[in-house]
Amino acid sequence: MNKIEITDKIKYIGADDKTLDLFESQYIIPNGVSYNSYLIEDEKIVIMDTVDQRKKDEWLENIEKVLNGREVDYLIVSHLEPDHSANIEILANKYKNMKIVGNQRTFNMMPQFFNMDTSKRQIVVKEGDTLDIGKHKLQFFMAPMVHWPEVMVTYEQTEKILFSADGFGKFGALDTEEDWTCEARRYYFNIVGKYGDQVQQLLKKAATLDIKMICPLHGPILKENLEFYINKYDIWSSYTPEDDGVLIAYNSIHGNTKKAVEKLAEILKEEGAKKVVISDLARDDMAETIEDAFRYDKMIIASPTYDAGLFPFTEKFLRHLKHKNYQKRKIGIIENGSWAPMAAKYIKNILEEMKDITICEKTVTIKTTMNEETIKDMQNLAKQILS
Ligand code: FEO
Repeated sequence: MNKIEITDKIKYIGADDKTLDLFESQYIIPNGVSYNSYLIEDEKIVIMDTVDQRKKDEWLENIEKVLNGREVDYLIVSHLEPDHSANIEILANKYKNMKIVGNQRTFNMMPQFFNMDTSKRQIVVKEGDTLDIGKHKLQFFMAPMVHWPEVMVTYEQTEKILFSADGFGKFGALDTEEDWTCEARRYYFNIVGKYGDQVQQLLKKAATLDIKMICPLHGPILKENLEFYINKYDIWSSYTPEDDGVLIAYNSIHGNTKKAVEKLAEILKEEGAKKVVISDLARDDMAETIEDAFRYDKMIIASPTYDAGLFPFTEKFLRHLKHKNYQKRKIGIIENGSWAPMAAKYIKNILEEMKDITICEKTVTIKTTMNEETIKDMQNLAKQILS
């Protein structure tokens, strides 16, 4: 059992998963992921969410160790996504007197996941409702679309702990020593990024609470310096650029566009760019490139033309950005085409579907390889994007 300290009466019963190939079948997780679950010992015993089915046995053992023969009285269901809900039915069958606590949406959706009649054991809560379990008092706040419609968070009033569901989560197993911000940002923009407005609503509710600790469903328990994490969430969810820098996101079929973007990176640095990050859209982790696109205030997209249209990885990247509500950024475009360069046109078409995007006036067109003229055009583009 993972020895994660929370408080005397609140125990960590979750599990690390270091063998999952892709989180949500799409995101690489080099350091695994944790499925967090918590047990509150009081006059009543409460479990806060279950874990992914991959970790069922470890989780059930963790529960038994803490329970020491007692029974579970309540299961709080913050989120029905299977990485947290997979074992609801198993737990309900094991502890026959256990009540299941969720909101109306939770119970509307639950039959899609389980063939189980919860009508006699469900407690339906709504915004602000409380559940008294002894010294601890749980208060529920709805957090729709952070990250599914039924999501709610729970505030424990006595120890002042926010159980924040997917919010404030992070990739990486709990024994991973790494910077919180990087993997929490990659997690945030790829998992919840589309729902910035809803995260803002949740932050407004959280601002009314005196929070001493945040217990998310993935990643470390946050115990100190909570303003730092809350401030990051405020920046991310308002789509405000976090850092002054340029992301160059490119594709290169035979290496010529790559040579051009390497030259462009030099030019940008000469022109005073604070930070330049280069990402190969076909080879680098797309989720990290999405993260960097949101992190920096400027981006240059460099892409070959392909089949009289856009190179597929460029299109995939831009579509991802659109889905994640990418906005409020300044963008430059470089296209390459050996006989009929078309990439810029298609890049602009997709960018025009987004909000508050400023496209630099001058597009750089390369015909196969860069030359002196292209270099001059890139110098102009660098000046424009940095102005
Ligand atoms: Fe970790 Fe939206 O589930």
